Amino acid sequence: MTEHSLLLSRIAPRITEEDGAFRSKMLGIAAGLDEVIALGRGDPDFHTPKHIAEAAKAAIDDNQHHYTGPTGLPALREAIAANLRAEYGLDYTADEIIVTAGVQESIMLCMLALVQPGDEVLITSPRFTTYDTAVTLCGGTPVPVPTFEKDDFALDVAEIEKRITPRTRMFVLVSPNNPTGAVTPPDVIRQIAELAEKHDIVIIADEIYARLIYPPHEHLSFATLPGMKGRTITLNGFSKTYAMTGWRVGYMAAPRDVVDKLTEPRHTLSINTCTVSQHAALAALTGPQDDMQAMYDAYAERRAWLMDALTEAGLSYGAPGGAFYIYTNISSTGMSAPEFCEGLLRETGVMVFPGTMFGDDSADYIRISYLQPLPLIREAMARIKRFIDTRKGAA
Ligand SMILES: Cc1ncc(COP(=O)(O)O)c(C=O)c1O
Repeated sequence: MTEHSLLLSRIAPRITEEDGAFRSKMLGIAAGLDEVIALGRGDPDFHTPKHIAEAAKAAIDDNQHHYTGPTGLPALREAIAANLRAEYGLDYTADEIIVTAGVQESIMLCMLALVQPGDEVLITSPRFTTYDTAVTLCGGTPVPVPTFEKDDFALDVAEIEKRITPRTRMFVLVSPNNPTGAVTPPDVIRQIAELAEKHDIVIIADEIYARLIYPPHEHLSFATLPGMKGRTITLNGFSKTYAMTGWRVGYMAAPRDVVDKLTEPRHTLSINTCTVSQHAALAALTGPQDDMQAMYDAYAERRAWLMDALTEAGLSYGAPGGAFYIYTNISSTGMSAPEFCEGLLRETGVMVFPGTMFGDDSADYIRISYLQPLPLIREAMARIKRFIDTRKGAA
């Protein structure tokens, strides 16, 4: 027995097979290419606005090199609570906020806190599969709630209700959703609240894309509805809105007694979110918002252009109400989504991700992230068209 096989044999059954394998493969292929137009990862092409980076530099110069309290800097928690109230009408105080290493850590903390072995967790799908991993690690079972292209991937309450069993404990509402960009309309949010009450379900409201919504779509924060705050944990963060993916700052908001219960487990995960990054996040909330607005305007322009271009190329999609993704149907090309994405990357240097990476079993969809300047998106679209034509010609 080699040293490795001993370790491998001791891996706990909760560590199931990685679903990241295809992502690693794509990133590996891309690393070997000279020039890639990256429309794969959900990482903005914009740099973090200067004044935010300057605040981090000032924090370093001011010797802010130490631990903070596990729930985060008091000033940041105050600013987050004020922002949640001003932006979304959410009623949280500073002591109802826990700052985490991205929303990612909040997701794990939520599942550690709320999922018991055998619990079923409903999740808007196709989906951000971190939820599957976190639920599975805690002994629960993820139960996808499908959404469909014909509805622009909007959630249908009947699809949720169909999947409720005596073991259902939680529903993860991600709106706008990743990878579809679908926004759950306010009337559906209200119906979900009724369902949650009827079946005694806890809601995780992941609102990380809530600032990136395109008219006429509207965001309604779940925990603003009467009686819902007590059964909801609201998640949000800085990665997407402020182009701060590498800083690793997100947060969860929950009633005070819940936050008190979670402070020690949160300390166990990583003690606190990087102190310098917390100062940067504070500057993001309290400083000028012009850069954020400029990024939003660019996304809106790219979205409109890309929707037209896809239609012109004969590819259908669910019209996204938010985020920075278009979930595009490539079944007419005769290729499966993984085959399409790998071929496209190898032959044209354009990287997009298959829907299968987002828990979609159909293999009919790719996710295009419009996170490059418009001229590069135009170039990518021209290459996609050529790639499809070449494959059709060869068939
Ligand atoms: C729906 C959703 N939630 C959470 C995250 C995690 O974001 P972060 O940890 O960077 O805040 C992502 C990242 O893509 C996401 O799409």
